[in-house]
Amino acid sequence: MAITDQFAPTLPMIAGVPTTQLAKQFGTPTYIYDASSILQRIEQLRRFDVIRYAQKANSNLAVLDLIRRSGVLVDAVSVGEIYRAKRAGYSLTGNPAPVVYTADIFDQAALDLVVDEKIHVNLGSPDMISQYGERVKSGEITLRINPGFGHGHSQKTNTGGEHSKHGIWHDQLEECTKLAAKYGLAVTGLHMHIGSGTDFEHLSQVCTAMLQMARRVGQSIHVISAGGGLPTAYRDSDESVDIDRYFDLWDQTRRQLQQDLGHPISLEIEPGRFLVADAGYLVTEIRAVKTMGENLFYLVDAGFNNLARPIMYGAYHPMAIAHRQPRDLKLQAVVVGGPLCESGDIFTQQEGGLVDTRNLPVASVGDYLVIQCAGAYGFVMSSNYNSKPFATEVLIENGQPRVIRPRQKPEELYASEILD
Ligand code: LLP
Repeated sequence: MAITDQFAPTLPMIAGVPTTQLAKQFGTPTYIYDASSILQRIEQLRRFDVIRYAQKANSNLAVLDLIRRSGVLVDAVSVGEIYRAKRAGYSLTGNPAPVVYTADIFDQAALDLVVDEKIHVNLGSPDMISQYGERVKSGEITLRINPGFGHGHSQKTNTGGEHSKHGIWHDQLEECTKLAAKYGLAVTGLHMHIGSGTDFEHLSQVCTAMLQMARRVGQSIHVISAGGGLPTAYRDSDESVDIDRYFDLWDQTRRQLQQDLGHPISLEIEPGRFLVADAGYLVTEIRAVKTMGENLFYLVDAGFNNLARPIMYGAYHPMAIAHRQPRDLKLQAVVVGGPLCESGDIFTQQEGGLVDTRNLPVASVGDYLVIQCAGAYGFVMSSNYNSKPFATEVLIENGQPRVIRPRQKPEELYASEILD
């Protein structure tokens, strides 16, 4: 593995604070988030009219509050996410809508909440249009479109094409605008989240599809949303996305549409990962170092209950060691695993489960292993499997770490269960 400063295999500091100090002060496993990294990422997207954070990536209230204070709006995919947004200080209505509910279905509670609180909805199925229309009888909606093709880092995250459950199939656009009109609903915007990655050829296909479909809807369109899917570099070799080029492609689409329709069009982007992935570190402690035939294992105190991405997608996360005592940095190939009673509880695996090794510094029990780029889809996808409590979350702002969620207590694991 190439070793660079960015993904160095040792990590003495996180956001200016010694890693060992953080580990000792907050215990392990702990998620640490660097606020300044999130703020920098937001600045990179300022050319868009609206940055709408896809909070599914990391919905801790303190993270949402930080993002809200930077003027970023929010997306919600569930009742829980709407409540979180509200608790973090977002108003539920306004123009542009501070909170947008985007989904492919309404469960009953979500439908009641968006109707009662007049939350803007971005609808991903014809059934949502009729269920919503029956309740509100008039108003504005936006539609999430599946243009018939997609892109994603794995089969499980590809969000376009025939095998995807997301959005309204492009052929059904007219049917859906008619359905909306039947209920007095105006379609004021279109949204396409199809996981474009850094592939600009693909992105320009998406932009063309957006333009064609917005023209088909016509005068009522005032917003187009590029969705999420802005990538982040997990490996040294991953290219970082050229944001200006990304913006320019969308901006051209918007300008063209403005010309066609003769009125201003607002351009939104809906990033999750891009804003928070890099900012997050999962600090773990090495609890066993053992050999299995040819393989050497570092077993740490975090598992896929804490970070599911490697086991779900074979996702690669950079890793580094923070030694308790200074020592020489000889590298060795290791398999990194967690504490769960499952052989799949391995952080160094490829998609499909093939176990891999990683070159990491020689380390012993008591040293810390930090899993990097873990701020997106990390804590939020964690579980209590094996009755493991949720990890602590810590936010570092201006060099000051503070707990934004304490470690779950063992008795909290079953506090809502009923005995007898
Ligand atoms: N907007 C919509 C409608 C989405 O469905 C998503 C992600 C986003 C925005 C944000 O996408 P992002 O910018 O974060 O790529 N758990 C997977 C990712 C699932 C993404 C689901 N939808 C992972 O860990 O990679």
